[in-house]
Amino acid sequence: MKRNRFDLSGRVAVVTGSGRGIGKAVALGLAEAGADVGLVSRTPAELERVSEEIRSLGRKAVAVSADLTKVQDIPHIVKEFVRAFGHIDILVNNAGINIPQEATDVTVDAWDRIMDINLKASFFMAQSVGREMIREGRGGRIINITSQTGSVALVKRAAYCASKAGLNLVTKVLALEWAPYGILVNAVAPTFIETELTKEFLSDPEFRQYALSKNLLKRFGTVDDVVGAVIYLASPASSLVTGHVLMVDAGWTAH
Ligand SMILES: NC(=O)c1ccc[n+]([C@@H]2O[C@H](COP(=O)([O-])OP(=O)(O)OC[C@H]3O[C@@H](n4cnc5c(N)ncnc54)[C@H](OP(=O)(O)O)[C@@H]3O)[C@@H](O)[C@H]2O)c1
Repeated sequence: MKRNRFDLSGRVAVVTGSGRGIGKAVALGLAEAGADVGLVSRTPAELERVSEEIRSLGRKAVAVSADLTKVQDIPHIVKEFVRAFGHIDILVNNAGINIPQEATDVTVDAWDRIMDINLKASFFMAQSVGREMIREGRGGRIINITSQTGSVALVKRAAYCASKAGLNLVTKVLALEWAPYGILVNAVAPTFIETELTKEFLSDPEFRQYALSKNLLKRFGTVDDVVGAVIYLASPASSLVTGHVLMVDAGWTAH
């Protein structure tokens, strides 16, 4: 019988920011591919709803409600997942925010809030999970959700672009350091995807027109457009891929 190269049966995935948007779709997609899933965000009611959906697929779901910017709590959160599942095979660092501001208006508070979740929390999640993966000796996959803005500039996004470019390079450093342990570290960099995060600026007709003018496929993404890329990077199909930033950007960065 032919092996399904995208099968995640028996794997354990942790997805941050999995209460809604891209993270929710990724958590459900990984469960559909066979994985049990650990969920984390600050809103328990959203996590509970996603957990129920995962359980209805016949997979195990464990939700931890936490603010990941409290990075000193991250090792305890990761331990909670390890206690519940035994180990972690896949981490998807998805939790993130954006606060669009002209460079002249960026506040210290906004800069720190963006960096704290998009870059700092993502690194320390990877560090904690990476330590567990190294200790277990089973290898693993870490997938960071960055953005096309980690590679190209966009107005009103000085801090956001910096956080995503930083996470792209952290991805490569971790790939380099952890290859000897069989831990493959990659990023998925989407273009505009219609979620709560983008609702406000994608409802501005002028911005929509600008964004579509850069987009070769002439449509914004859906959360589902990101799921396949994550499943690929989490699965045996990508076993020779590490340190890569997979653009899911409708060709935005191709020209
Ligand atoms: N949508 C896009 O167009 C797009 C494009 C490129 C990249 N991305 C990236 O994709 C990721 C998800 O975006 P999205 O559009 O799905 O956003 P979203 O709908 O706003 O969801 C963000 C998720 O992150 C969680 N989160 C935010 N701050 C957190 C914190 N301090 N601690 C724990 N969880 C936190 C949120 O839950 P709580 O608020 O309940 O904590 C929520 O579950 C982000 O990293 C974003 O930068 C999005």
